[in-house]
Amino acid sequence: DIYGQQRQNSRGPNIDIACEWKPFSAKVNEWLNHQWLAGPIINGERIETGRIVEAKAPYDHRHHTGRVHFANAELVAQAVQVASDGFADWHATPVGIRTQALMRLGNLLEENLEELVALCHQEAGKTIQDSIDEVREAVDFCRYYALQANDLFSTPTKRILADGSSHQLIRDGRGVFVCISPWNFPLAIFLGQITAALAAGNTVVAKPAEQTSLIAARAIELMLAAGIPGSAIQLLPGTGADVGAPLTADPRIAGVAFTGSTETARLINRALAARDCAPVPLIAETGGQNAMIIDSTSLPEQVVKDAVQSAFASAGQRCSALRVLCVQKDIADRIIDLLKGAMAELKTGNPCLHSTDVGPVIDAGAQQGLLNYIEQMKSHATLLAQSALHPDADQGTFVAPTAFEIDSIERLGREQFGPIMHLVRYEAKDLDKLIDQINHCGYGLTLGIHTRNEGTAAHIESRARVGNTYINRNQVGATVGVQPFGGQGLSGTGPKAGGPHYLLRFTRLQPNVTRP
Ligand code: SER
Repeated sequence: DIYGQQRQNSRGPNIDIACEWKPFSAKVNEWLNHQWLAGPIINGERIETGRIVEAKAPYDHRHHTGRVHFANAELVAQAVQVASDGFADWHATPVGIRTQALMRLGNLLEENLEELVALCHQEAGKTIQDSIDEVREAVDFCRYYALQANDLFSTPTKRILADGSSHQLIRDGRGVFVCISPWNFPLAIFLGQITAALAAGNTVVAKPAEQTSLIAARAIELMLAAGIPGSAIQLLPGTGADVGAPLTADPRIAGVAFTGSTETARLINRALAARDCAPVPLIAETGGQNAMIIDSTSLPEQVVKDAVQSAFASAGQRCSALRVLCVQKDIADRIIDLLKGAMAELKTGNPCLHSTDVGPVIDAGAQQGLLNYIEQMKSHATLLAQSALHPDADQGTFVAPTAFEIDSIERLGREQFGPIMHLVRYEAKDLDKLIDQINHCGYGLTLGIHTRNEGTAAHIESRARVGNTYINRNQVGATVGVQPFGGQGLSGTGPKAGGPHYLLRFTRLQPNVTRP
């Protein structure tokens, strides 16, 4: 508890938050009623700016989870300077020492599981299971990138030439990396970007999503406790205008890792290009208009289970989530019947409860945008099904899972980041046309295929331009190290996070050294 005495009870009316989940319930319950306090952390110092934002649980706005001091442009300049000054030391720290600290961080995350689960739940509105998965993924990133860095950077690549001279190639950190992360994976992606940058020898200035600053600050505290020096990691909670814009315009930065919307990735690209200095890399993981293609040989019950999970789990707030279910005409009516039945059973409400399948969306802005879209779609698409909302839903920002039938994928506009699924029917003879239409959306993140015909699966897989393809299963929840994750086109630049090439993009190649 870094803020000690300064912590204030900012809770609203008396609401007892209790979690039904066991065996976590006892310890998680202790944390559920905790008040957190966060703010910028520069050179290991916690700063109170006085620009305070109240954090409220997305599932019940009467419940305040803490307070965040937001940063301003002056602190951005200060943080970049500290990170620039800290680069020489961190960069000179042997890889093995850097990665030991990341391994310790992984252990600390596990030791603080209950608090982090409660924070993910309270601040991001995740179900307890999603929150546990979130911490697990963050631990995986710490350990995977530490092991990767040991393999890639411990020993320079050496070659002996025919004349007997030796030739040496070294990969090294680039400088100050800016990490800008999203609210939908407030711990896993936040730490994934930062640990990759640090493992590769960079110092970091991190801007978390403004909706999830509390969990970000807690993660930075654990990084400092794990032995990562305060000069290597700076935290700047705040808005895109106050923090993101000056950070990406700063000539001292050496690269940006960003996960979020395609629109923001474009803005960052422009800001980097407008700087009057050397070009630097942008690693962007953005959205998707993700499809699942179902042919008539597939098993309808399995299709519906996997489609419902891919579209509505995590309230559809995953960049991997299913947005358009493409069903071969011959089995479409059967699939729609089963889908209606499954959606009638979905429970949307308080993510503390065992019975809840779908939690809230992140905030009122997201909710309003999704509700507006649903209203617009009602006038030019067929509403197939809409799940019921929990009676207390008006206390939070909920959107009922909704499915529309549309006549063509070409009708899809921009990605809707929530529990909304579209369905299109296609004829077997038009399969290639369908794949081309999916490709023409411009996004290319995940693709689901359901078929019991190996040839069909192989054909679709080879023709679709996407990052991650899943056959006869759901299409969310890539596992670090096993299913490297990331797309192409409007879905991002690559390299894939949690994969063997990711760290390399955070490095520069030192000049070749040749000795006789
Ligand atoms: N990596 C996540 C998934 O696979 C999305 O960011 O669902």
